[in-house]
Parts: sequence; C-alpha cells; structure tokens
Amino acid sequence: MLPVRGERVVLRRMAEGDLDRFLAYRSDPEVARYQSWEVMDRDRARGFLAHCAVVTPLLRPGHWVQIAVASSHDDRLLGDMGLFLSEDGTLAELGITLSRDAQGQGRAIEAMRLACDLVFGHTQAQRILGIADIRNAASLTLLQRAGFTFTHEESSEQDGQPITERFYALRRSDQP
Ligand SMILES: CC(C)(COP(=O)(O)OP(=O)(O)OC[C@H]1O[C@@H](n2cnc3c(N)ncnc32)[C@H](O)[C@@H]1OP(=O)(O)O)[C@@H](O)C(=O)NCCC(=O)NCCS
Repeated sequence: MLPVRGERVVLRRMAEGDLDRFLAYRSDPEVARYQSWEVMDRDRARGFLAHCAVVTPLLRPGHWVQIAVASSHDDRLLGDMGLFLSEDGTLAELGITLSRDAQGQGRAIEAMRLACDLVFGHTQAQRILGIADIRNAASLTLLQRAGFTFTHEESSEQDGQPITERFYALRRSDQP
C-alpha cells in the first residue's frame, strides 16, 4: 500500500529516523494551534513512530494510524497524516499536519489527493471525512481544493474552550 509517490511528496511509513523532525514541528505552537493532539515527549514520540512503522494492516477498522508525508526529493519528513477507518469500514477520516517550512507550496493538496486515492483504492470506504476549526483558513481552503464538500458545523471544545468545527466529505462517487 505504501509508499505512494507524487511529484513533490511521498506518503510512506513513519520511521525511527523521523524522530527529530517529528518532534520539532509537533512542538511548534503555530502548527499545533487548531489541532487536538497533545505534544509528546521524546520517549513517547519514539514509541509512537515505532508503532506506526509496523502496524498491520495499515488501515484497520476502528483505528487511527499516522503516516509520514516526506519530500519526494530527499525523503525528509515534512509532516504527517492521520488516517482513520470506521469499524464497519464504510467511512474514513483524514487530517494532515505539515511543518511550517513545508507549508504553502502545494504539498498538502498533493498529499491529500494521494491519501484519498489510497483510501478509496484499498478500502470499502464510501466517504472520507475532513474536519477543520472554522478559524483554520488554511485547512478549510485545503479541504475545498481537494474536492471535499461542506456538510455541516458542530460545536465542540478544545482545551476547555468552545470551538466550532466544519465538516467536509469526499464521496467515492465524486471520484472520476
Ligand atoms: C493545513 C495545512 C496542512 C495546509 O498546508 P499547505 O502546504 O499550506 O497547503 P497547500 O500549499 O497544499 O495549499 C492548499 C490550498 O490552501 C491554501 N492555503 C494555504 N495556506 C493558507 C492560509 N493560511 N490561508 C488561506 N488559504 C491557504 C493554498 O493557497 C491552496 O489553495 P489554492 O490552490 O487555491 O492556492 C497546513 O497549513 C498545516 O499543516 N497547518 C497546521 C496543521 C493543521 O491545522 N492541519 C489541519 C488539521 S486537519
């Protein structure tokens, strides 16, 4: 299933050698601002990457897995992508994070398209969900540009603060 190679990015398994870059952007408050994940210390991050490197199958019903978004030129880790498959296998969800120095160059959109092809090509998922905080302009634009359609908004909470999230979906039947 992996690696999947695009012009600028490659989606691949996480690897031990990604640890320093993973910790660097995951500790960047700008990158973490609208994300629900907690910052990990070095030991926890090492264990997390080791788990993601070997988990089989990659897309397991009822589980999230994090895959690497790396440079297709030198394989350097640029960010990561979370993929989830529902228990019944009909719904997937994805979320992407890129380090600040990798943003704004069309890499996220390419990674999203590769990931959607991967999910539709290797699972029975009928829809892929993307969720973004309404203040996260980059993420809202990214989902729309990747062909996702707005479905609804929900109120939620992050760090004890009320937030509003926008839900987007890409249907299998939307695919050419
Ligand atoms: C969301 C994120 C992955 C986008 O990455 P990116 O590399 O900037 O995205 P791309 O360069 O592929 O651009 C995709 C589209 O988003 C637009 N975009 C990027 N940053 C933007 C911003 N700050 N405001 C508005 N639009 C923006 C681009 O212009 C492009 O649209 P276009 O093709 O119409 O020009 C990145 O900002 C990020 O990692 N943010 C922190 C983590 C996060 O919040 N992730 C979302 C949670 S699901």
